[in-house]
Amino acid sequence: MSRIARHLLPDSAKTNAFGHLEIGGCDLIALADKFGTPTFVYDEAHLRARCQEAVSAFGKHRVVYATKAFLCGAMARLAHEEGLLLDVATGGELFVALNAGVPGSACVMHGNNKSTEELKMALDADVQHIVVDNFDELDRLDALHASGAKRVRVQLRITPGVAVHTHEFVSTGQDDSKFGFNLRNGDAQRAVDRARSSSSVEFVGIHCHIGSNVFAAENFTQAAQIMVDFANQLGVDELTLGGGLGVAYLESEHAPTITQWAQSLAAATAKLSKTTKVFVEPGRAIVASAAVTLYRIGSIKQLPGIRTYVAVDGGMSDNPRPVLYDSGYEAFLPARVDSDRTERARVVGKHCESGDVLINDAMLPSGYAVGDVLATPVTGAYGHSMGSNYNKVTRPPVVFVRDGVARVVVRRESYTDLVSLDVADSV
Ligand SMILES: Cc1ncc(COP(=O)(O)O)c(C=O)c1O
Repeated sequence: MSRIARHLLPDSAKTNAFGHLEIGGCDLIALADKFGTPTFVYDEAHLRARCQEAVSAFGKHRVVYATKAFLCGAMARLAHEEGLLLDVATGGELFVALNAGVPGSACVMHGNNKSTEELKMALDADVQHIVVDNFDELDRLDALHASGAKRVRVQLRITPGVAVHTHEFVSTGQDDSKFGFNLRNGDAQRAVDRARSSSSVEFVGIHCHIGSNVFAAENFTQAAQIMVDFANQLGVDELTLGGGLGVAYLESEHAPTITQWAQSLAAATAKLSKTTKVFVEPGRAIVASAAVTLYRIGSIKQLPGIRTYVAVDGGMSDNPRPVLYDSGYEAFLPARVDSDRTERARVVGKHCESGDVLINDAMLPSGYAVGDVLATPVTGAYGHSMGSNYNKVTRPPVVFVRDGVARVVVRRESYTDLVSLDVADSV
């Protein structure tokens, strides 16, 4: 197999005079030496370019960045600076956004089981609107209003009854879903009637999100058409069509661009009342291919006639997607980025699980050795954010690179961090 496909690498990726891969003008081998491994390296210009593409395709304050894909203070500020709103799905995500200096009015509160405390936090922060998921949440908003909370703008999350071509764990718009008000069985209309007659909420619109890592334009257009019909019937001010645009993880994959996604949604919403504002909520499409993860190879085990295992110093704790969704990734050696990859190996992590596999069938250049830096591309979404401390492995740092400058925006966790929540007198 030839060298790693360029469409999987961040925009600014290029081979330097040493034959090493550079991102944002920074040599990845030098970054691994300086910051250690594993490390998430994000191309800041790539992040900004995707935000700008989304804003020019949908409009300022019409793109709600789904922070669950990747969130830290620097990312929250970057998305806000570029004119995106922030989708926060928990009190924790809201806290991180507010702590970064993003005003509550630029945040949209999500979640299928928001607690009273989370709702109160959202109300206190004066969020742009709350996406209400179920009748119990409407009860909680009524109770908060009765105890003095102000009236809040709400969109209602609707499941349009569309099943999409993606992993079942990230398919969310079908009838059999934990999310939202069902359109087909009349719950959606009942929720609208209730919200419209309620004094605790101001009903401004409807919302759907059909799933994640969706490549098929027809899935989006089908859902959009159903939502447009319902929005027109109701005469709402706002319609959110969710996120979910897929990205290529493998050489064989090619995903629609944000601009192409916008074009298919524009066609599908052509009949929408001109007074209804359209919002979208991309996460993965903004951040996934902006990042690579740098690991170091710690052991190579050859099993003649079976396979070769290449163990790196991270694994399911920094990228649980292969274990959760059977997701595929590619690998390359940044020190020899243009070399043909001719050797097949299974890239595994350092956790105490046979399932701790990062790449089932990776292709690597011949002659790779213990101590080499190995990188996996397209790790910017749902890696750092879904990471864990399993086996008390410390979480990797996040480094933003741009114009030859690398800045640590999230430091590496320390062993002291691992015990920082232990209560002293219980030790
Ligand atoms: C309500 C909602 N909106 C947006 C997203 C973002 O999805 P993606 O990262 O696939 O664009 C998600 C992801 O789970 C979601 O649940």
